[in-house]
Amino acid sequence: MSEKKNSSYISGKESRKITKFNRRITKKLEKERMDANKDPALYTTRMADENNIVEFDNVCTYFFSDVGVVKAVDGVNFVVPRHTTVGIVGESGCGKSVTSLSLMQLLQRPTGQTVGGEIRFNKGDGTAFNIVNTPNSIMETIRGNKISMIFQEPMTALNPVFRIGQQINEVIELHNPEMSEEDVKARTLEMLEMVGIANKEGVYRMYPHELSGGMRQRICIAIALACSPTLIIADEPTTALDVTIQAQILDLLQNLKDKLNSSIMLITHDLGVVAGMADYVVVMYAGRVIEKGTADEIFHHPCHPYTIGLMRSKPVVGQKVEALYNIPGSVPNPVAMPDYCYFRDRCEMQCDRCKGEYPPEIRLSDTHIVSCYRHYDEGQVLGYPKSVNVEDL
Ligand SMILES: Nc1ncnc2c1ncn2[C@@H]1O[C@H](COP(=O)(O)OP(=O)(O)OP(=O)(O)O)[C@@H](O)[C@H]1O
Ligand SMILES: [Mg+2]
Repeated sequence: MSEKKNSSYISGKESRKITKFNRRITKKLEKERMDANKDPALYTTRMADENNIVEFDNVCTYFFSDVGVVKAVDGVNFVVPRHTTVGIVGESGCGKSVTSLSLMQLLQRPTGQTVGGEIRFNKGDGTAFNIVNTPNSIMETIRGNKISMIFQEPMTALNPVFRIGQQINEVIELHNPEMSEEDVKARTLEMLEMVGIANKEGVYRMYPHELSGGMRQRICIAIALACSPTLIIADEPTTALDVTIQAQILDLLQNLKDKLNSSIMLITHDLGVVAGMADYVVVMYAGRVIEKGTADEIFHHPCHPYTIGLMRSKPVVGQKVEALYNIPGSVPNPVAMPDYCYFRDRCEMQCDRCKGEYPPEIRLSDTHIVSCYRHYDEGQVLGYPKSVNVEDL
């Protein structure tokens, strides 16, 4: 009986009901996806602003799990302008990786589904792909070629049984089938040189375990940049490295981005990394964007209590403190999110309005947008994040 009182307890009957519901919904969504894939009109769209590389427009990505629907990304809106670095920050589990996996269409399907919104990727010819409906055959030409990803752990990202050269060659060959073997090898060596590997001929023949962590991450960067992508997604690229190597890798990424005219979506926990690299910052909390703006606005004028808490919880060089600030409480249960502000129960700056529904986006400047009732009267109210009711699917 005591177990039943616990909200996370699921009876056998409920579990069967969830499984049946998940099977029905995911089958329907997969069928809709197949139908949308057949007609190019359904996955071709236009950018709201031609200067952006990617536009996330009310994107909702849900996981139909055994314990219920996890709204991992729920009504996310932000853009990546051309030739810029956009930092995405937020605590573990807030949906940063799921946002980037939705863009690459690398979600664990059929459990994970983008059920609402548009992800527009600029083709550069005045039109755009709506990634949500784009068929896999076209995604294969985008992934690794136009959008590429650098993962957190370079040892697991590389295949331990293949030589470094083979792994870079494979990417180049796949996207440039017309290239001769010698040209592919020359391009691989050029990439190794570009990422700062001195002994490129030697490293070409080595296996991943023969390299240090920093060198392996350089190889991952070489693989990601081999086809000169227009967008690089770096998901925690330096978390596994020590501070000095971190700085080198970040410098390298920034230089290569400028050289290739690409944009970077930089996902990280580390506010120091974002401060040093990003032009724009998006702060996520429990699957939603709660504040976004230029790096200067977010670092020097944070407005959302969560962003303010994040800033207070980072150490400042040269300043001695007794203890770092700790944001109280924890994130709500992802399968049963409240219908009011998700941060309210942890917030030390609540106002009367916070008792109401989830706060809308409020524009404080051209670039600075915050979802918090404390600023309701200070800016232009834009609209509420659009969640999808799974019962309606
Ligand atoms: N395959 C899955 N099935 C069910 N839930 C998932 C799955 N993948 C992710 N989630 C859930 O989606 C939410 C967002 O996860 P995500 O990996 O995007 O977090 P994150 O912000 O990248 O965290 P971290 O900083 O730890 O990498 C989490 O609540 C996670 O439990
Ligand atoms: Mg992640």
